[in-house]
Amino acid sequence: MSKERRNRGWYGMIDKDGFIRRSWMKNQGFPDHAFDGRPVIGICNTWSELTPCNSGLRELAEGVKRGVWEAGGFPVEFPVMSLGETQMKPTAMLFRNLLAMDVEESIRAYGMDGVVLLGGCDKTTPGQLMGAASVDLPSIVVSAGPMLNGKWKGRDLGSGTDVRKLAMDVKAGDMSLQDFMATESGMSRSKGVCMTMGTASTMASLSEAMGLSLPMNGTLPAVDARRLTLAHMTGKRIVEMVEEDLKLSDVLTKESFDNAILTNAALGGSTNAVVHLLALAGRVGVDLTMDDFEIGGEIPLLVNCMPSGQYLMEDFCYAGGVSVVLKEIAHKLRSANTVMGKDIAHYYDEAECYNRDVIFAYDQPLKPAAGLRVLRGNLAPNGAIVKPSAASDHLLEHEDEVYVFETIEELKANIDRDDLPVDENTILVLKNCGPKGYPGMPEVGDMPVPAKLVKKGVRDIVRVSDARMSGTAFGTVVLHVAPEATAGGPLALVKTGDRIKLSASEGVLELLVDQVELDKRRAEGSPPEPHYTRGYAKMYVDHVLQADKGADLDFLVGKDTRPVTRESH
Ligand code: FES
Repeated sequence: MSKERRNRGWYGMIDKDGFIRRSWMKNQGFPDHAFDGRPVIGICNTWSELTPCNSGLRELAEGVKRGVWEAGGFPVEFPVMSLGETQMKPTAMLFRNLLAMDVEESIRAYGMDGVVLLGGCDKTTPGQLMGAASVDLPSIVVSAGPMLNGKWKGRDLGSGTDVRKLAMDVKAGDMSLQDFMATESGMSRSKGVCMTMGTASTMASLSEAMGLSLPMNGTLPAVDARRLTLAHMTGKRIVEMVEEDLKLSDVLTKESFDNAILTNAALGGSTNAVVHLLALAGRVGVDLTMDDFEIGGEIPLLVNCMPSGQYLMEDFCYAGGVSVVLKEIAHKLRSANTVMGKDIAHYYDEAECYNRDVIFAYDQPLKPAAGLRVLRGNLAPNGAIVKPSAASDHLLEHEDEVYVFETIEELKANIDRDDLPVDENTILVLKNCGPKGYPGMPEVGDMPVPAKLVKKGVRDIVRVSDARMSGTAFGTVVLHVAPEATAGGPLALVKTGDRIKLSASEGVLELLVDQVELDKRRAEGSPPEPHYTRGYAKMYVDHVLQADKGADLDFLVGKDTRPVTRESH
């Protein structure tokens, strides 16, 4: 170690300021030698009873602490805002950037040399990484891990995915409401995140693929003792990372983002990875754009997990996990550094697959060329996305009339009307659900299939919006249309009866209305009234970037690694 550790600016001074910091910390029983210059490791914890997915993080924090002490460091756990996807209104995504601010300023203000990020539920992992990236200390991820497989009457139940499927069965009259409610307890049987390949497991798996965590972080079940071991080993490793001055920006390179995009395609991972990766890249100054996601388009689907397949995260783990996927796509991966200080190849060199029904081989995939598709056209000048692996093949090339919902309230009030003028070919359009419009870009893009169609056996139709959808959702759903309607995007101009052309193969999303008519509609229209006039939500609406820029706040892009020199007293 040549340069002085950061913590010396807090705990190394033999004066009044050093006295104050050490003395107050000693009220927790920390001995003198905790302040002798050893690496101070922050454990950034998003544990909360209101974020059930992260409810195992307290135990994992203890595991990290054991590892830090063992390696000669000084662990200090601190809480940050927690974002419970299923519990927050109007949407946890509204607060991802607030969590990122909390993480960034906590890391910057306190005297730590490195940080372990304990996250899990959807927005917690990206929010923590974004905040940490803007300070750029040595940082490493430990994820909460997925719940055990859901179970009901001898069958597996997948978080989110089966809620939607079973709710549709109830709508169709194929399942009683009583049976539906009975699945509630069987679906969530242990601590941990959704055990489908939803956004949480996608981001945990991508953390592994980007080399931001130790191997197996993506898949080990939350309650598997080996996850506690992983936490312990991560505690040891972060101390070494401080010694090596291996910063987040040494791992978060363009190559690691490319690897995340390739891996996400093979996983059948969440569409939400797009906004999170774009936002994270913006923090570290990596030039990542929507176009970069096109490299995923040629990657086949290898992982047979819901919502794109049939199995769950426990099965994926026991089949060998993320490292097997990395090995299958190794010929596509870029050479990239990891928190181990070794190339990503180190994570998969010795990987072995134990179940080919769960992880398919590259040359015998579950589905060919199934990665996310970027769509462009006069309806989405800055892009939109669709997830072919979770869509119906026959709808990915489609042109027909649209039925428009101007707001989410209009949709909820009318979607199941018997006289809704739609059929299985109609394209549903939902407006004003983007970053500024809702606000917060919620997961409502997978609009329910109208009851009158479900009763006829229809399970999927084309849907287009400026919203996101849950990583556990499925269907032929065009998302993240940018610019959004509320920001004056062309989506605002669509009227019921217009025609839209979707072509996933050509990457096209076109509104088939001539420009003269669109100009006329624009001149006649006016933007909707804002929902919030004060507080964080107002700041968010005033500053949020569009989906193609990751929906970060404009003033949070980039990083500031300057030392904090002023004292508090
Ligand atoms: Fe938290 Fe799915 S709701 S991970």
